[in-house]
Amino acid sequence: MPASARELNLAGASVEVFADAATASRNAADRIASTIREASVTRGKAVLGLATGSTPIAIYARLVALHRSGELSFAQVRSYNLDEYYPIAPTDPNSYRAYMQKHLFDHVDIAPNHAHVLDGTVPEAFAASHAAEFDRWIEADGGLDLQLLGIGRNGHIGFNEPSDLSTEEAKALPTRLVSLHPVTTSDAAKDFGGEANVIPRALTVGIRPILAARSIVILALGANKAEAVAAALQGPITARVPASLLQTVPGKVAWLIDEAAAKQLV
Ligand code: PGA
Repeated sequence: MPASARELNLAGASVEVFADAATASRNAADRIASTIREASVTRGKAVLGLATGSTPIAIYARLVALHRSGELSFAQVRSYNLDEYYPIAPTDPNSYRAYMQKHLFDHVDIAPNHAHVLDGTVPEAFAASHAAEFDRWIEADGGLDLQLLGIGRNGHIGFNEPSDLSTEEAKALPTRLVSLHPVTTSDAAKDFGGEANVIPRALTVGIRPILAARSIVILALGANKAEAVAAALQGPITARVPASLLQTVPGKVAWLIDEAAAKQLV
């Protein structure tokens, strides 16, 4: 596993700062691979919470390479993706189901009924029960061994967007249907060919199941994440910055960031 250039301890989390994005991504992939190997042996399965977006692409490329070289099997893996646009067809190239198939699932030996992504095709009247069922699936699988996260420029994790909720209310948020924040819509515009085309709602795994994971690995790469990283790690615990809620589970969060994303830490 590649070592970080420097390591900090902030708000009870370990923060590893890497010289570049590629090294940070490789470290994240190697942590996931270790979790898969250990949990597969000790518990007979490894339960992962997976993320999408631009940040994890290199992580999945490394995991696929480890699988191709015979060093890693996904036969015991159960995965639960963080979010999905709503409504969206799984075949839509902008769907996170399509993303996961393209970057990971199509290239490894994970069983189709072990690779779960929230379903953007459920009838709206059943979206809440589908979301609640997703939480029950995670619990029935024994909870997440590792939750992989990115962070939005507005501090969101999954599509848990900034809000005026109390900290306690925010920490209790279950998996559910949400509306996207303007910053999220603006960042998604490039994928949808303009802001007006971005699907404005999504299903997201809630803060509660994220915080319940046995370990959390959060990646932030690039200067455009520096403000959110500093707010999450050194600002107050607040639902205005959902990633700051990770401060409430000290000891199980590893931040893997590059120098650019670290530059507003003081
Ligand atoms: P990104 O998204 O990896 O595309 O920057 C991260 C996020 O919004 O969680």
